[in-house]
Amino acid sequence: MLKKIGLIGGGYIGGVLAHEIAERRLAREIGLTDPAPFVNPDDPPERQEVAKKQSVAKGKCLDISEGLPTIRSDVRCVGSKDYSALAGADLVINTAGVPRKARPDGSFPTREELLTINLKVTKEVAKGIKEQCPNAIVISVANPLDAIVYTLDKALAPPKNKLVGMAGQLDSGRYCYFVAEAANVSVESVSAIVLGGHGDTMVPVRSSCLIGGVPVTKFLDEETLSAIEARTRKAGGEVVGLLGFGSAFVSPAWAALEMAEAIIFDKRKIIPVCAKLEGEYGVDGLFVGVPAILGANGVEGVIEIDLTDVEKEAFANSIKAVSKTCGEVDDMLGNL
Ligand code: 2OP
Repeated sequence: MLKKIGLIGGGYIGGVLAHEIAERRLAREIGLTDPAPFVNPDDPPERQEVAKKQSVAKGKCLDISEGLPTIRSDVRCVGSKDYSALAGADLVINTAGVPRKARPDGSFPTREELLTINLKVTKEVAKGIKEQCPNAIVISVANPLDAIVYTLDKALAPPKNKLVGMAGQLDSGRYCYFVAEAANVSVESVSAIVLGGHGDTMVPVRSSCLIGGVPVTKFLDEETLSAIEARTRKAGGEVVGLLGFGSAFVSPAWAALEMAEAIIFDKRKIIPVCAKLEGEYGVDGLFVGVPAILGANGVEGVIEIDLTDVEKEAFANSIKAVSKTCGEVDDMLGNL
């Protein structure tokens, strides 16, 4: 159990994280920060006074706290509209930013299209972490995932092991789920890895996908596997299109908690995460989805797996996409 976990963002993912952390008793204290609801200076003064007193973070924390006696958990849950809730946190999970949301015509933006708005939010996030818990290990979930982790790295310059993004566990979980469904086996029997950026170029690695330790190709034909891999690459969007009000939130929260538990309990568990590469896979200076060992020190090692020529090409293509978005970050950061 940690002393304190800080949560940045009290939206759907932040809400699931807070109640799961309380239920799983992962820390003595949860500090949840979210500025909502904003005070609109154009509103009549009475309305502004009401908004000043309201706080999504405080409300969610009180709701969870009042349920603690029922689940017999003594976790302290503190919310605030500013970053003070993070003070002294050992581990921070960042979900701050605008999620993808379906437009009235049913279409929706790519994760990369969220960059401009979420970059501004991320600058504030970095300031909050620096002031309140500069030594915390940070797991970032906000989109566009790889570019936001890259931005946090620029702003915080943390040791390489202390900053990591959540995407690979979510994408690999989706791949596993679709394979298990098609093969009519338990999800527990499937292991699979998705590499690369957390965008439409991500790479479901067929050559490392196993069912009960046996190559997936023994169970599913080429056509089925191709369809599953295409669906995996677009799986986040599929949920956005169905929900209408935002993006997936339970599976991303569980994936982030899988990473948090590996760190909290020093499991040295191999999990696909967005980690800083310094030469591994021939990449230098970018955060990209790769299998890594997670333990008490955060990212304790990157695992390089063998890829087929087709997978290598797809990975290179994905790196190109991540690099392009990070180039935009470099251009935009100076102007923010
Ligand atoms: C997803 O893929 C939210 O990026 C997240 O659903």
